[in-house]
Amino acid sequence: MKVFALLMTVTVLVLASRAEAQDAARGATLFKTCVECHGQNGEGMASQEAPRIAGQYDWYIVSSLQAFKKKERNNPKMYPFIEKLSDQDFKDLAAHVSRLK
Ligand code: HEC
Repeated sequence: MKVFALLMTVTVLVLASRAEAQDAARGATLFKTCVECHGQNGEGMASQEAPRIAGQYDWYIVSSLQAFKKKERNNPKMYPFIEKLSDQDFKDLAAHVSRLK
């Protein structure tokens, strides 16, 4: 029973620190600049050739955005929208987008 209680405490602490590190509500606000290409729910848009990103893993979204910002992945369409965003912005965006269905 003690072990279980300890595990629960650790789990709660880990979840709490993750919630602090990524702010999905802030990400939802930032995401407003993305919807014209990726759609209101991240479903993607054929006319923009913008892929579906809803429900994608958060780590994948962050690493993609970092690669676009460094121009390791070349995306002239999207670049102006992300060039001024920080790693924290990327994390918050990822927290929001990964929860979209
Ligand atoms: C002007 C249109 C446009 C806007 C605005 C835009 N994107 Fe994109 N995005 C694209 C296109 C086109 C691609 C695919 C090109 C590529 O992968 O090289 C893409 C690719 C991506 C990918 C990679 C998907 C994958 O499967 O690898 C992510 C993540 C992403 N966008 C997130 C965002 C976020 C977050 C925003 C808002 C800050 C945003 N995009 C704004 C057009 C846009």
